[in-house]
Amino acid sequence: MPLRSLLRPDLDDLEEYTPVKPYDVLAAEIGLPVELLVKLDANENPYGPHPAVREAAARAPLHIYPDPGQLRLRRAIAAYANVEPDQVVAGTGADDLIDIIIRLVAPPAVVIPTPAFGMYRFLANIMRARPVEVPRRPNFDLDVVAIRHAVQDSGARLLFLTHPNNPTGNPLNLSELEALLALDAIVVVDEAYIEFGGQTVVPLIASHPNLVVLRTFSKWAGLAGLRVGYSISTSELAAHMMRIKQPYNVNAAAEAAAIAAIEHRAEIAEHIAAIVAERDRLARSLAGFGWIEPYPSVANFVLAAVRGLSARDLTAALRSRGILVRFYDRPDLRNCIRISAGLPSDTDRLLNALTELSQ
Ligand SMILES: Cc1ncc(COP(=O)(O)O)c(C=O)c1O
Repeated sequence: MPLRSLLRPDLDDLEEYTPVKPYDVLAAEIGLPVELLVKLDANENPYGPHPAVREAAARAPLHIYPDPGQLRLRRAIAAYANVEPDQVVAGTGADDLIDIIIRLVAPPAVVIPTPAFGMYRFLANIMRARPVEVPRRPNFDLDVVAIRHAVQDSGARLLFLTHPNNPTGNPLNLSELEALLALDAIVVVDEAYIEFGGQTVVPLIASHPNLVVLRTFSKWAGLAGLRVGYSISTSELAAHMMRIKQPYNVNAAAEAAAIAAIEHRAEIAEHIAAIVAERDRLARSLAGFGWIEPYPSVANFVLAAVRGLSARDLTAALRSRGILVRFYDRPDLRNCIRISAGLPSDTDRLLNALTELSQ
């Protein structure tokens, strides 16, 4: 019997997630030394983890399984987020929580306002939940009426919102969120970038038991490589999520590092402030070129429309100089690039290259 016939046929046409690649792989592809790369394509934290966080990860007990109940980690996150520990579920990055929620609800469809983070669509497809995409308005605000219809017509029971949104950088409008929380659906608000701007919606959980907030240590704490994120919800919903997660989903090093990051958050805040300042300088400088139009962003990246030139060619020209940005060209995002806020020297390299390419 051919192996193929034993597998799920509906995955034949699965639209794969486009992941970013690490430094060494990229350097080899481009043919430049790793030190010359300016990696502004994945919204990573250019400062990396705090030294005490590295030490905590190095000291973690690697020969025993981590705590499936995540007691210490949930307690630390709860204190950081100002909630109770039983409202928190930690996972292998926020991605893991997205997966857990889709598996818990197992809806026939999920509603996703677009442009959006691609993982919602990817994981929904794998779970046989039809992604119903609802285009945002030209300024990337939500189309609340269209979302409401999409949820009602598709029987979605699950809606993904992102605050601030990736890749557009704009925050959620809180009155629009409240309108959507009235739907008969679990509403996920993904706050992966909230430490860089926007006001958290966590306080709304008390009055809206269908709200789940997602967060991550990948961005503010510089731990993208360790994979640790979490959700905040009612304790009831969190208990359901805890029951179906992989028991040892957060590894020992990630657990120790996340707790240490919370302990050292005051020092890490200095790097967050530097990234925010760099984002604003980047946006101002891009606008100065005249042919690049940055959209307002409160996250750690800037989306920009490229005028009079192919954004694909621009991305390739930057790449050949060792500068990596993310390129988009799709119906809801024409001829755009997304640039992560990096070190001041990264911005300088990018701006010099753009100046060169303007001539
Ligand atoms: C909106 C959003 N949510 C979640 C994630 C993934 O976070 P994690 O690294 O914790 O899986 C990302 C990563 O880029 C993101 O942009």
